[in-house]
Amino acid sequence: MIALNVNGERHEVDVEPEAPLLWVLREELGLRGTKFGCGLALCGACTVHLNGRAVRSCVTPVGSVGASEIRTIEALGTPEKPHPVQRAWLDLQVPQCGYCQPGMQMAAAALLTTTPEPTDEDIDQGITNVCRCGCYERIREAIHVAADAPAEGEER
Ligand code: FES
Ligand code: FES
Repeated sequence: MIALNVNGERHEVDVEPEAPLLWVLREELGLRGTKFGCGLALCGACTVHLNGRAVRSCVTPVGSVGASEIRTIEALGTPEKPHPVQRAWLDLQVPQCGYCQPGMQMAAAALLTTTPEPTDEDIDQGITNVCRCGCYERIREAIHVAADAPAEGEER
């Protein structure tokens, strides 16, 4: 059994330590918001947070996670209380097909915690996720909007 801390809850899963975290999240825990794209750490569709850092869960063995806090797209925000990234995504109608977007939002949220006022260059270097629909311009703009969003409790 491997113990995991996912979205603030403790889980025990009966899987091999080499199993990719992505499969465990999707198949064992039913958290299907995190997507499979390439399986090779190239596209970022599988991005989740480990202790707030964006990682590609398709190449993260579940046995390597230990006591780290895992956060998936299901816990980034709620419809009532969206994360600033999600609010900006909605305001700017960023997605096209949507497949890459959970990973994009997780990558964007992680970038904003380390770089609260990112330049275009910071965004281009910090987010290497792939969008087959080519929504990069809107993604970049939405990250700037999220960065400028008032802190919680302030008027919008
Ligand atoms: S599915 Fe993990 S990077 Fe593409
Ligand atoms: S919105 Fe379609 S792949 Fe990004």
